[in-house]
Amino acid sequence: MSQIGVTGLAVMGANLARNIARNGVPIAVHNRTASKTKDFMDEFSGEGDFTGTETLQEFVEALERPRRIIVMVKAGAPVDGVIADLEPLLDKDDIIIDAGNSHYVDTRRREEELTAKGLRFIGSGVSGGEEGALNGPSIMPGGPREAYGEVEEIFTTIAAQVDGSPCCAYIGPDGAGHYVKMVHNGIEYADMQLIAEAYDLLRHGIGLDVPAIKAIFDDWNRGDLESFLIEITATVLDKVDAETGKPLIDVIVDQAEQKGTGRWTAQDALELGVPLTGITEAVFARSLSALRDQRRDASGVLAGPKPGGLPESLVDDIRAALYASKVVAYAQGFEQMAAAAKTYNWDLKMGELAKIWRGGCIIRARFLNRITESYDAHPDLVNLLMAPYFQDAVASAQDAWRKVIVSAVEQGVAVPAFSSSLAYYDGYRRERGPANLIQGQRDFFGAHTYRRVDKDGSFHTRWSQDGTEVRTD
Ligand code: 6PG
Repeated sequence: MSQIGVTGLAVMGANLARNIARNGVPIAVHNRTASKTKDFMDEFSGEGDFTGTETLQEFVEALERPRRIIVMVKAGAPVDGVIADLEPLLDKDDIIIDAGNSHYVDTRRREEELTAKGLRFIGSGVSGGEEGALNGPSIMPGGPREAYGEVEEIFTTIAAQVDGSPCCAYIGPDGAGHYVKMVHNGIEYADMQLIAEAYDLLRHGIGLDVPAIKAIFDDWNRGDLESFLIEITATVLDKVDAETGKPLIDVIVDQAEQKGTGRWTAQDALELGVPLTGITEAVFARSLSALRDQRRDASGVLAGPKPGGLPESLVDDIRAALYASKVVAYAQGFEQMAAAAKTYNWDLKMGELAKIWRGGCIIRARFLNRITESYDAHPDLVNLLMAPYFQDAVASAQDAWRKVIVSAVEQGVAVPAFSSSLAYYDGYRRERGPANLIQGQRDFFGAHTYRRVDKDGSFHTRWSQDGTEVRTD
């Protein structure tokens, strides 16, 4: 009998199944199109104890009970389709694990529906792309604690390992795992946008060529910025197009696509009222990039300075600006998770989350150790920026950060994620901002009332009558 099963053998499912089998766990595999299972078995059955199955009936019969079934299909309706097909074939207490990028709202609904039917449901984030799935991803499982207990050993074994600990930990009930994976992806969007803005400044602000920029990213990857995304940026920049002999980057169309997780993160931040500016700007930057035809037409018409001529001495300032902006993106992402934990009643452990992102996932980075240490030292930290390590890091980066943004603005190089991160920082550190004026305006046109700094209660000024103030509560 197989200890676990995977249905959905596209590349992520296939690699996850191979990872499990390579770790000595007997596994059943299934795909809706049976020929795919056959191809999989032809190619990989030598890697472990696989049972290839043609029908869902055969698949469930091949599994030990309670059954543990990983569903690895496209998020959305396909997940509901597979669950509906599986349900009648399962027995009480069997466990369905959705390991795709599902929206946490769907995960909450599915968990509730399946629990009512006596089944158990785990919604698990899995990060690391194809490579990670095969060699060790970061795993973010959510659902009933005791159901996680039944897959814990397999999950912690197949996960990436950093300093002897697995990049997998129980996140919380119902949608918590998929929520955390969603925010992970949001941070991924911000990280990528910040790197793209740094590249743009190096390329078009200073005027460096692609090999020089590649060397800079290699260099940055040896310092505080060391991370998977910085590393692959250098690799992407190093690639020469076989057909044209140009850097590949110069023949790739400048329109960033998106499958939805970044947008969901931003949408949810709006719902929760969390100022998630960095990630949201990154999503909007992708939307703006998609307007390729409009941008082409506008480029010949709309006025602006011509970029170029920034001094090479700015390279290190750009590095510092990237680091500080990245700190803000993470601070905002963690703030969002804290707000969600309150709203949905999840006991999210912030330090633990940073710990399981240290390896396997797309945003893995040296700096996550600093986040874990900060939460370990200050478990009630309200904002990462307030941790002494990050206070100091941003304090020493801020002159460079401001200089880079000023230069970018003067050059007409758009740096939405850099500048919105700095705006957040400057807004956050102000004891008294300008929202008092907004309250005054609201009260003027809609009698929406305001509170005063010197006494309790709600007040309204009779703006268009005698101008006197009345207490309204
Ligand atoms: C991961 C990635 C993965 C996927 C992104 C891509 O953690 O392994 O985040 O989930 O590659 O969802 O997202 P976009 O297509 O929206 O850029």
